[in-house]
Amino acid sequence: MERTLCIIKPDAVKKSVQGSIIQMLLDAGFKIRAMKLIQLSKAQAQKFYEVHKERPFYNDLVEYMTSGPVIPIALEKDNAVPDYRELIGATDPAEAKEGTVRKKYAASKAENAVHGSDSVENGVIEVGFFFNDSELV
Ligand code: RTP
Ligand code: MG
Repeated sequence: MERTLCIIKPDAVKKSVQGSIIQMLLDAGFKIRAMKLIQLSKAQAQKFYEVHKERPFYNDLVEYMTSGPVIPIALEKDNAVPDYRELIGATDPAEAKEGTVRKKYAASKAENAVHGSDSVENGVIEVGFFFNDSELV
């Protein structure tokens, strides 16, 4: 079964909407295989978003992702990667469809409530970034 990584980002945890977001995931048919609340170090955030290293928003992104606790969640479902991207909506909440997580809960393009893996391959890599095999149930 396909896996993808959700991260409930610091803005959503600060707003106490993590419970509502997790319920949206469950209602959409995703199974939670692993979940934890953690504070990312700067080095961890830099590594996780290494692909965006050359982008102008990289430093702000690292600062934002370390500004408070986050909740990584390993999700499983048929077509988990595309179905989860559909559920969260566009990066910029102004462009996200009604009923998506980002339309409901994201404050801005930068502080946009959740992360989602962008390919099946990256889903595997990103789940492995936060969870080892014994933590996946
Ligand atoms: P994510 O990786 O977090 O699921 O988001 P995404 O695929 O929808 O967007 P991506 O292009 O991968 O960007 C990663 C994260 O960087 C922040 N960002 N800020 N200020 C900006 O223009 C800007 N653009 C992107 C967002 O937090 C975005 O989710
Ligand atoms: Mg991305």
